Amino acid sequence: MAQEPWWKKAVIYQIYPRSFMDSNGDGIGDLRGVIEKLDYLSWLGVDAIWLSPVYKSPNDDNGYDISDYTNIMDEFGTMEDMDELIVKAEEKGIHIIMDMVFNHTSDEHQWFVESRKSKDNPYRDYYIWRDPVDGHEPNELGSVFSGSAWEFDEETGQYFLHFYSKRQPDLNWENENVRKGMADVVKFWLDRGVYGFRLDVIEMLGKVPDEMIGANGPKLHDYIKELYEDGFNSTGKGEEIVTIGECWSADIDIASKYTNPENKELSMVFQFEHSSLDEVPGKGKWELAPLKLQALKDVFEKWQIRYDKGWNALFWDNHDLPRIVSRFGNDKEYRVESAKMLALLLHGMKGTPFIFQGEEIGMTNVAFDTIDKYKDIEIINMYNEKINQGISHEKIMESIYAKGRDNARTPMQWDNSNNAGFTTGTPWIDVNTNFSSINVKKDIEETNSVLHFYRNLIRIRKNDVCIQKGNYQSMMKDDEDVFAYTRTFEDMKILVVCNFHNCTKDININMDTKEVLISNYDNEKIDLRNLKLRPYEAIMCRI
Ligand code: NOJ
Repeated sequence: MAQEPWWKKAVIYQIYPRSFMDSNGDGIGDLRGVIEKLDYLSWLGVDAIWLSPVYKSPNDDNGYDISDYTNIMDEFGTMEDMDELIVKAEEKGIHIIMDMVFNHTSDEHQWFVESRKSKDNPYRDYYIWRDPVDGHEPNELGSVFSGSAWEFDEETGQYFLHFYSKRQPDLNWENENVRKGMADVVKFWLDRGVYGFRLDVIEMLGKVPDEMIGANGPKLHDYIKELYEDGFNSTGKGEEIVTIGECWSADIDIASKYTNPENKELSMVFQFEHSSLDEVPGKGKWELAPLKLQALKDVFEKWQIRYDKGWNALFWDNHDLPRIVSRFGNDKEYRVESAKMLALLLHGMKGTPFIFQGEEIGMTNVAFDTIDKYKDIEIINMYNEKINQGISHEKIMESIYAKGRDNARTPMQWDNSNNAGFTTGTPWIDVNTNFSSINVKKDIEETNSVLHFYRNLIRIRKNDVCIQKGNYQSMMKDDEDVFAYTRTFEDMKILVVCNFHNCTKDININMDTKEVLISNYDNEKIDLRNLKLRPYEAIMCRI
């Protein structure tokens, strides 16, 4: 068999550039800010950076509405900065992975500017236009950001489709020129030296709006295979780069189609099954439900064991999700312990771990008191819609505090100076008020910190074939507080035991330990047969 791809041993760090580091005092993070922090990322030990979109954009959805795929957003810098970032990161052994939004563009993209001009414009068919039906929207399709997915355009008297904001018109992938255009975008970035792509809502490319189909349309996989041939593998390097598809609806069968190496589509997918366990089933992200630990264990077990035609992307956080320590941990009394426990639980598994900026210092959710402090289009649209339905401000804010995307988007907390060291100007979104106690500088100085724990986890994984490749087996499946599993590779075995809750637990595991690899409490030696787990205690040991 060919050599294992680099990304199977990698840990990938996601940067949301707007909130990472501002180098010029305009309150918005930028590429030079990322360059400044490369030493930090190298010290942490990550192998690649997934860079959320940095292309030209009017920022209706913070860069996920792209108006020019081969130029850099003014606030973020220039193409020279981007080239420098790619080169300097590579010098430190860090690959750059670009975020590609292929389902839609900005309404300011030249294709759409042309498309909306007239029904016979050559670009008309690049997007999805339909006549009104009885003076209304063509059908009931809804936008992820509230309201209808159809927007009426006065100019030509037709509706266009937008599964996201009305400033993010959906592309028509039936159109060959769209497909070729996007393959060219891939080539452009490969030529500049990037090592992969994160593919935004890739599952939507095969949409059939007239049949109410969004995700997983009939031609989806044909389009991705074509993108592989004409884009990812256009220079014969398809096997060397990494591609990760964002696939909200993927179950194991669907995920396998994308990632079965024989199919030549993608390297990995982000699936979100574990990430929807704290919502009322079928009611969407805003309807909150308590997490049941057994359900979480079942989901992980399923993906760890049954997903044998693919490789897992392991993640808790990203720019669309709340902070994991606030969500499944305890961001008050046991913030440090629970952040470490969650890290250990995930990084002990099989797959490629992703760390979202700030997760490595246990950054928490934020709770702004007024809606005007929030910047995310999804939050704002949902708030207005629910207020109009008569739901109280307090009730809506409760969901926003728990699930709103701005939880992940407050500026990175570098130190305890003004604005957490993120900017010398006024930040585009407020800094979390807890920055003086939660920041990188402090965590570097304190060897017991969440940050050092992440760094150690990365190092341990890198040197341990059993963590990289070992088979997963669940333990204590019915226990309501403890999440435990083993990993086995040849004659090596590793045990991970995590107390998921704020309680003490006496447990008995009939095994001998050889060595404690890492733990979030003082645990030089442990007796597994007489283990007294403290709140959120987590241990990884060789057995
Ligand atoms: C998924 C991205 O992660 C999210 O931030 C964005 O709003 C939507 N796709 C639309 O591009």
